[in-house]
Amino acid sequence: MNEAITYRTLRREDYPAITRMLCDAWHTDPTMDHDLEMKLAEIDLEHCLGRATAAQVAVSGDEVVGVVLGRIDSHETRNGLNDHHVRNMRLLASLLTSSRGRKALLRMKHYEDTNLRMIAEAKKDGHAYQGELVLLLVRPDMRGRGIGAHLFEWMTDRFRQADVERYFLFTDSACDYSFYDKAGLTRRAESIVLDNEPHTPKGDAEVHAEHDDIDDHLHAFVYDNETSPSNEGVNPLGRD
Ligand SMILES: CC(C)(COP(=O)(O)OP(=O)(O)OC[C@H]1O[C@@H](n2cnc3c(N)ncnc32)[C@H](O)[C@@H]1OP(=O)(O)O)[C@@H](O)C(=O)NCCC(=O)NCCS
Repeated sequence: MNEAITYRTLRREDYPAITRMLCDAWHTDPTMDHDLEMKLAEIDLEHCLGRATAAQVAVSGDEVVGVVLGRIDSHETRNGLNDHHVRNMRLLASLLTSSRGRKALLRMKHYEDTNLRMIAEAKKDGHAYQGELVLLLVRPDMRGRGIGAHLFEWMTDRFRQADVERYFLFTDSACDYSFYDKAGLTRRAESIVLDNEPHTPKGDAEVHAEHDDIDDHLHAFVYDNETSPSNEGVNPLGRD
């Protein structure tokens, strides 16, 4: 039976469900044990919550099945390091105790550096942003029912109400980034994320494996959009 979907603000007790959704979406890795995968998902969530100022979840029955997090710069009231940053630093430090953890840490740092470089270049090119769409995620079995569009529009409405003229988001080729193409956003920047682990001499098989990896590399993107009513990107999915 299809339960009705309701929407409400994010609560602390939603964090475990969202962590599981993040883990399933982006942190499953056959080379890692489940505890490490979940820790990476928790780091991901803390990293998002540390910069989010607005949050909405979709609920079916009593289960969270979708989430949107966004940042409106003018609504940030926390100074410097907030609780999420502190929890995130603790989780990051705990990765140092295993070689898999250290490898994951390096990959995250490289990914973060790539994103920061792309957004710095976009800003240098004269693009100014007052908001960020931080996270948009719907549980796989609940996709295709309008939940993503509803959450996305909720966030863009918040942007408009807060006089955010332009917002951006980070995404990558492991995500359903074509959702944003369809929604009329502009792909502002793109960069290949290569693994930058320290390299030691490798045998032939390893060199081939690495070559295959590079062929299959991750592309990171910055998308942006305006929120002004005159822009066609507003309410692009056609739902009021
Ligand atoms: C992207 C995502 C949030 C869409 O959620 P959803 O609930 O399935 O989307 P909706 O049912 O509201 O679809 C809204 C519209 O977007 C379109 N759409 C949905 N997923 C899409 C995709 N992957 N690519 C292109 N368009 C997509 C739908 O066709 C629909 O168009 P329509 O209104 O013309 O029918 C969801 O697929 C998801 O969580 N993906 C994994 C996380 C992710 O990649 N997030 C975004 C990038 S970081």
